[in-house]
Amino acid sequence: MRRRKFIKKSGLTTAGMLTAPVLASCKDEKKVEAITDQKSVIPIVICTWDFKNASAKAWEILYQNGSSLDAIEHGVRIEEDDVNNQTVGTGGRPDRDGNVTLDACIMDAAGNCGAVLALQNIANPISVARKVMEETPHVMLAGKGAEQFAYEKGFKKVNLLTEKSKQEWLEWKKTANYETPINIENHDTIGMLAIDKNGDISGGCTTSGMAYKLAGRVGDSPIIGAGLFVDNAVGGATATGVGEEVVRTVGSFLIVELMRQGKSPQEACEEGVRRIIEKNKNRKDFQIGFIAMNKNGETGGYCIHSGFSYRRYSPEGHENIESQSYF
Ligand code: GLY
Repeated sequence: MRRRKFIKKSGLTTAGMLTAPVLASCKDEKKVEAITDQKSVIPIVICTWDFKNASAKAWEILYQNGSSLDAIEHGVRIEEDDVNNQTVGTGGRPDRDGNVTLDACIMDAAGNCGAVLALQNIANPISVARKVMEETPHVMLAGKGAEQFAYEKGFKKVNLLTEKSKQEWLEWKKTANYETPINIENHDTIGMLAIDKNGDISGGCTTSGMAYKLAGRVGDSPIIGAGLFVDNAVGGATATGVGEEVVRTVGSFLIVELMRQGKSPQEACEEGVRRIIEKNKNRKDFQIGFIAMNKNGETGGYCIHSGFSYRRYSPEGHENIESQSYF
C-alpha cells in the first residue's frame, strides 16, 4: 500500500525531485501533497489503451538497459506498422479527401522535443519526429516540408491507405456525416511514457488523427504540452481522444504541472478531465483519456466516458488497467 502525506512546499523544488528530508526542511507555509515513502517502480512503461505489443516492445528495450527514448520510439512503431490499427500509422483512416495524414511527437528527459504534423506517405512519423528533435534546430515540421525532410533522412515513400480504410472512406463519403465516435474500436492515439533504469523519462504520441477530418486538420497528438509533456524532474502525461479539447486546456502540460504541485498522477489526470468538462458543460458526445506517471513510477489514468484503459509494464508485471471515468 502506498502512502502519501501532506508536507510543506519549497518554491525551489519540484515534487519529483523531493525526498522526505528535503521536504521537511522547507519553510514555505503552503501545503501540498507529495509522495515521501514510496519505493520507485522503474523501469516502467505505460501507454494509452490496451496496446500490449507496443508496451511489450518498449519493456524489452527498458529491461535490456535501453534508454526510455529508444523504448518509446520502438514501442509506438509497433502500432504505426500495424495495418489493422486504423487510428495510427499505416492503415490509418484518411481525411475526407482520402489522404492519410499522420501526427506524432517525442520528448526526452532533457526537455528536447520533435514533432511532425500532417505527414503523408511515411510509415513511421515517430522516427521522423525524433530526427527533427535530434538533427534540426526546430521542434515541428509540417506537411510537405516534413515529408521532404523524411526523404532526405532516408525514409521511403509508402502508401498509407490500405484497401480496408479506402473502402470504409468510400462508404463514408455517401453520407459524409462527420462524427467523433467514442472509444473507436477501443483504441485511438497511442501515447506512451517510459522511465529507464537511469530514472530518465521520455514520452511519445502518434496518431492518424480524427477519421475523415478536414484536410490540414491537426489535433493534440503532435503538440508538445497538449498531447504529450515530459519533465524529467516531475513526470509525464499524454492524451487520447478528441484533440481539439486537449489543445484548449494544454492538457498534458497541465497534468505535469499539477503533479509538480504535489498531486498524484491519478489526481492530476482527474483534474485534467474536469478542466475539459468545465469548458464543455453541455456536451457528452466525446471522449478524452489521460495517462500520467511521476518520477517514482507511480501511474494514473482518467477519462470522460468509460471504456478507456491503459497498459502498464513494470517489474510488478504487465497489466491492462481499466480507467475510471467522469461519467
Ligand atoms: N487525439 C488524436 C487527435 O485528436 O487527432
